[in-house]
Amino acid sequence: FFGTIHYTSAGNPAKYAERIKEAGVRVIHKVSNLREGKKAEGAGVDAVVAMGYEAGGIIGRSGISSFCLIPELADNLNIPVIAAGGIADARGFAAAMILGAEGVEIGTRLLATKECPVPGKIKEAVLKSTCDSTIVLESPVVMRVLRPELTGSDSPAPAGQVSGIIKEILSVKEVIERIVDQKFVEF
Ligand SMILES: Cc1cc2nc3c(=O)[nH]c(=O)nc-3n(C[C@H](O)[C@H](O)[C@H](O)COP(=O)(O)O)c2cc1C
Repeated sequence: FFGTIHYTSAGNPAKYAERIKEAGVRVIHKVSNLREGKKAEGAGVDAVVAMGYEAGGIIGRSGISSFCLIPELADNLNIPVIAAGGIADARGFAAAMILGAEGVEIGTRLLATKECPVPGKIKEAVLKSTCDSTIVLESPVVMRVLRPELTGSDSPAPAGQVSGIIKEILSVKEVIERIVDQKFVEF
């Protein structure tokens, strides 16, 4: 799965998938339920990202957790499923692979890294979090963010429920190495 990849989310991939593929670029589309997954597959995308409801950022209205969404998509689609939502370490990675994912997308864990350019107070808020430290904003888009009392600000700070198990600022390299080194599953 090498080469240039174009990543689309939120909306109908059919609009762009054909043109992007004609240019020799692979397309990955983010979905939050099986209906969207089938639509994306029908539009010719190369893979889908399964966006679980526990994820940080824009999550859609489906409300389906990664534990249910990954196997449902893996069972019903013929294209690879990449898991997103709730993965911060080797345990989450292994769980996603066992549930049928062929890769993972990690968001919140990378917020609390040395390289991430967000303000320090956002990183500190992630470290202070428990798994109920996020809320879902309904408007203008459905988005999971840190509770404003944790960040001390009303501007939305996207982060997922998995914040609750992140207790250290690491480098991106350390995050990846810890996942790779603690081998729960073979690559
Ligand atoms: C700070 C932040 C910003 C994000 N911005 C986007 C975005 O612009 N577009 C998008 O499709 N997903 C976005 N996401 C979602 C991530 O790409 C990823 O799917 C999600 O964070 C995975 O769940 P996790 O946070 O539990 O790891 C964002 C996530 C975070 C934490």
